[in-house]
This record gives sequence, structure tokens and C-alpha cells, in this order.
Amino acid sequence: MTTQSTALYYTGLAPGVPLAREPFARARQLRLQLRYHADRYYNDDAPVIGDGQYDTLLQELRRLEDAYPGCRNPDSPTQRIAGEPSDGFTQVEHPHPMFSLGNAFDRAGLEAWHRRVTDLLDGQSFRMVAELKIDGLAVRLAYRSGRLALGATRGNGHTGEDVTRNLRTVRSIPLTLSGHPPADLEVRGEVYLPLDSFRRMNEERERSGAPLYANPRNTGAGTIRQLDPKVTQRRNMQMWAYSLNDTGAAPLPASHWAALAVLKSYGFRVNPMNRILDTIDEVCAFYNEMLERRHEWNYEADGLVIKVDSIAQQNALGVAGREPRWAIAYKFPAERATTLLKDIIISVGRTGSLNPQAILEPVVVSGATVQHASLHNEEDIHRKDIRIGDTVIIERAGDVIPQIIGPVDADAPGRERPPVFRMPDNCPECKTAIVKADDDAMHRCPNAACPAQFFESLKHFVSRNAMDIDGLGEQWCRILIDRELVADVSDLYGLTAVQLTALDRMGDRLATRILTNIEASKQRPLARILFALGILHVGAEVAELLAARYDSIDKIAAAGIDELTEIDGIGPRIAESIINYFAAASNRHTIDGLRQAGVKLWHELAPVDASALPWQGQTFVITGTLEGMTRREAEAKVKALGAATSSSVSRKTNWLVAGASPGAKLATAERLGVPVLDEPGLLAMLAKPEKAGVQDDAEPAAEDGPTPEVTQIGLL
Ligand code: IVH
Repeated sequence: MTTQSTALYYTGLAPGVPLAREPFARARQLRLQLRYHADRYYNDDAPVIGDGQYDTLLQELRRLEDAYPGCRNPDSPTQRIAGEPSDGFTQVEHPHPMFSLGNAFDRAGLEAWHRRVTDLLDGQSFRMVAELKIDGLAVRLAYRSGRLALGATRGNGHTGEDVTRNLRTVRSIPLTLSGHPPADLEVRGEVYLPLDSFRRMNEERERSGAPLYANPRNTGAGTIRQLDPKVTQRRNMQMWAYSLNDTGAAPLPASHWAALAVLKSYGFRVNPMNRILDTIDEVCAFYNEMLERRHEWNYEADGLVIKVDSIAQQNALGVAGREPRWAIAYKFPAERATTLLKDIIISVGRTGSLNPQAILEPVVVSGATVQHASLHNEEDIHRKDIRIGDTVIIERAGDVIPQIIGPVDADAPGRERPPVFRMPDNCPECKTAIVKADDDAMHRCPNAACPAQFFESLKHFVSRNAMDIDGLGEQWCRILIDRELVADVSDLYGLTAVQLTALDRMGDRLATRILTNIEASKQRPLARILFALGILHVGAEVAELLAARYDSIDKIAAAGIDELTEIDGIGPRIAESIINYFAAASNRHTIDGLRQAGVKLWHELAPVDASALPWQGQTFVITGTLEGMTRREAEAKVKALGAATSSSVSRKTNWLVAGASPGAKLATAERLGVPVLDEPGLLAMLAKPEKAGVQDDAEPAAEDGPTPEVTQIGLL
């Protein structure tokens, strides 16, 4: 070892400490050194040694651990090794809900928030911490005795998935904490796929002719939900830590700014852009600077998060619905770019709709290469006056599919009489004549047996929110159709291991996984099956309504229009579509096939004796956007327990359930003293339905009564 490299190797050890000779001591030294260098590299962005030197140290440690297995330690950087793929993730409940944020889109919105906070704090002044809002995936990390014990996704804010094995491969998540952490610690942060990794992945896909990934956020989220941690490891995911949460194990710092410093001292990567600010002017100046610099970083930020710094003030402000009052997202405007509209292609959706899609000259918009944009229908194309060959303005906001705003110059020379886009007369796949109903914006292929429709139907049938046949991805759906193994969704249930393993690149493991998941799908709830069938206008919500009213698919098939439209939320258009679906012989054939295969097409209905239901006599108003369910689903759930729902808040209202952006109803409820639940609060009550009745004994709501705070957890 040369003197120079010895000096480098000492970095991270106390000055004058010699290299240990004894293997166990040297292994410990190496772990410390590697931790130090990883910290400089990932957390400070200021590496002290090169990658090669880091690897040499890592190899030395690996050799030592191989030779002396006793000195291997679960927290060693050599153990950041991805394990074997798993079959799925376990659900984990978050001890404190993971909230979302209200938005401000301009200075006025920010000022309104600032005024509200000042009012609620009775005029007290408050400091603010401004952070970049990272466009990634929120995770919760639990540390026990300084070791990473659990890493979970946010999920619906109440329940997420245990993705610890994948998060262990993220090098900026410490496996063991530095400093003196309490025995129990909870940290939240945003995990993201670095833009350079994303670009590299897409370059590889381009070379191999595979379809490109749309944006880093979705690809990153997919990477964390990968069943094979080796894939996660290869993609070099990173995390910015942004909150330290109470577990009761130790007192928390009194300010968020101090908490960020503590996080850093434990070895977390804390964004160096974070600022502590006093005034709205300062926040706006910082916003403008960040907006200008947003492309400098190796990650996407879609705005700032402004947080009240003092934890005491945060607690005093509390939470409204599922958004803390003490924080707000100050969003960056959607980014625009111009590019050439090369073509408009038509794909056939599962309901036969002809979906126009813009093919663009690839262009980078806010970090993602855009080469497709959605065009909703023929009318949309005409309204925007978009023509092939135009240079068009495209806009991309966060993870939303890029939209075409319109041509850059509608008066460009040569544009006077170009061919205006028209939908084809015949289906591009099966050549059946296209139909267009007056009350439908879409042109449709009416042929239920159209192969393009069937491909989409099959993809939908197996998808996560439908029959959830994991492992049977898009490519396999295509192959099963091409090999004529599946011509109807019910054919899935006749597939055999021999048939599957005969397919190119289908191993025994995958075949077993697919067959196991197909078998499991036979027991999916009735609502899922109804949704999976892909009946026009029957989305997840309507499927829930049908399943709440009927106990079998046969009863739904037999229902007439009057009976169906009696269901709150089902109008004549939906009812007609349901009737048409069951009238078609091909669909009846599918249902028979599913029945013969043993798919459960019925369920026990909830008891109908309303007086026996626990929430009988209670009235709920549900407002705002809920995360894990639609408002209608929430209403169906409370009604199933005997409660009534109403669209306006009055003194008779027993509970207001407030999702995001709850609007005026929340203020009315607060004024009338109606208890307010957020979504996790509702879920908790649904889980223990007998608890809703406690309201009965409460004091009647008083006009100027105190504001009840049902879910008051002053934490992120
Ligand atoms: S604070 C108060 N800080 O934004 C609850 N969130 O819309 C929010 N996010 O789910 C947590 N960067 O995934 C916070 N610096 C940051 C953030 C951040 C990104 C995400 C987070 C959250 C979402 C809320």
C-alpha cells in the first residue's frame, strides 16, 4: 500500500489510528470507513475517494467476511445485497397517517395560506422551512435500536406495503444510524429514481426496441414495488429524508429545522436546498430561484413544500381532513415545450373506443422525454385545431400524461388547407364499420370479438384492481392471444403448466406464479369481477354499487332498467350498458366459462335489517377528494352499516368526512361543531363500526361550540 493510498484509506478514521491487523477489528474499521465515504458521497455530494477506491475497500471487507464469517454483520455495506424475489408485499398499517398537502399555485394562494395560519395562531408570527417537493414516492422508515426494521410505502396514507427488502438496497437509506438515536425512530422521506438512471434505462430500452418508460416518478414507484430487489439495486434509487416523527421514545426537536439537522446527524441524506425563512417575500424569492434552477438536479421537483417550523405551532394548527394546516405545497407551473406532431395513430380500447394518440418528435419536458401525447377524441382534435405536420405546444404537469395545448402558429403558411384529421370509417384492427352515437364523444368499433379490444380486455381483466393476476403482464397477454391459448378471458382458467412453460422465456417459477395467481383470482369479490369484465361505463365505483345491491351476477344479468336505475348512482346510460352487455351471447358465453372454471360469481349480501345495523340513525356527509376510495364508495361503505348520507352539512349531521380540498363544508361543520373525520379516521371507524355510536351521548352541536379535532396527530 503506498503512503498516498494509506492516507486516503485513513480518511474516515480518527487521525493516527493505524490499520487494524486483527481481522475482526479491521472489518469494523472498514465498515466505519465505508460508512464515512458513503456519507460523503451520497449525503454531502462531496466524495473524498473515487469509486474504484471505494470498491477496493468493499472488496477487502468482503474477503475478510468470507474468510471469517463470524465478523460478518447484518449492517455491513456488503449486506446491502438484494435477496431473492418475493411473491408480493405485506400490508402494513401506519401508526400515524401519512398526510397529503394542500396546494398553492401562485403568490396569492400562498399568501392566503399564510393569513389563515396567522389567524389560527392568533396573530403570532411564525418561521417557515421551505423544501423542494420531490416528485418521487413517499416512504416511512422505522428504526429499532438504530437499525432499519421496516420500510413501507405510503399506500392510501393509512395502510402501505412493506418494501423493506427493496429499500435496503437504496444506498442513501442508512441501515444503521450514526450518532445517538433513540431506541425507536420513525423517518419519512421521498425515494426517487435519479434522472441519469432513468435516462440510462430508456437508452437501453430504445436500443432493444422496447417501449420507453414514461417518466421517472412512475418508473421509480414501480422500482420500489419490484418483487426482485436486485432490480431495485441496479437502478440506484435515492432518498431525501424530510421528517422525523414521534414514536414516544425520545423528545423531538422543538423545530422542524432542528429535526432536519438531527436527521443529517443520524446519517440521512437531507436536501441542501432546504431553507429557513421568515417572510412571504423570502419564500417567493426562494421559489423563483428554485424554479429557475429546477433542471440542475438529478431529480424532479414539482414545487416547494412550505412548513411551519415550530412543532408547537404545528400541533396547534393540526390537520384538516387529510392535509396538515401547517404545510402547503407551492407548485411549480406545468412545463411546456414545442415539437413536431408527426402523426396521429389510433388504438382500439377495450370498450371498442378509437383512441387517437399523437406521435411527436421526441422532446424533453421537465425531465422526461415525451414522444406521445393523448388526444381525447376527434372533437378534441378539431377544437384544438391540431393537424399532422404542425409544430405543437405540449404541456406536462407532474405525472399527468402530456397534453397537446394547440398549434404554435395556427396561421403558419402552408396550413390553409391541410387535411383535417378524421377518424377512420373502419376499425384499424378488424375492419368493422365504426359507429358514433350522438351522446358519446368516442367513435367505437362495435365488434365485441375485435382482437384489439380483446387484448385490452384481457389486460384489464388481469390488472391489479381487477382480478389481480400478477405475473401476467402485457407481453404475456399478447403471447397468449397470438398462440391462440386464450380467446376469451375464461380460457385463462384452463391454462396448464405444460402450455405455459412451452412458451419462450417462461420459466417454471413464473409459470407457477401465474397459475397460482389465476387460481387465487377465482375468489375475488363480486365487485372486482364486475369491474374486470370491462362492461362499458361500469368502473370500480359502479361495480361496488351493483355488488352492494345484488348477491350474484345472475341477478344483475336479469335486472331490468327500472330496477337498475333505482340504485343511487346508476342512471339510464349505465343501466342500458349493463343490459346490453348481458344481452350479448358472447358475453354470456364468457360468464358461463367463468362459472364452469369455478370463479365465484356471487357473495353473501350484508344483512338488510337496517335497524340491526350499527350506524343506524347516523348521518354522514362526505366531501373533498379521498385517496383510497371514491366518495361514492365511501358512501356505500357507511350506508352498508346503516348510516344515511347527505350532501349538505347541518346540525343533524353526525360526521363530516373531509378528504383533500374539502371546501366550504368543512368550515360549516366546524362552525356547527360537527365532528370532522379524515380518511384514516373513517377507515378506523369502518374497521370498528360499533364505535360510531359514541356520538349519541355527546352534547348536541352548538352553533359556536368548540371545533372538534378528531384526528389530531401533529406529525407528518
Ligand atoms: S412533507 C405533510 N416534504 O409530497 C405531509 N412531502 O403531497 C407531506 N413530498 O406524500 C409530507 N417532497 O410524497 C413533504 N419535502 C417534502 C416533500 C414531500 C415531496 C411528497 C410526499 C407527500 C406529498 C404530499
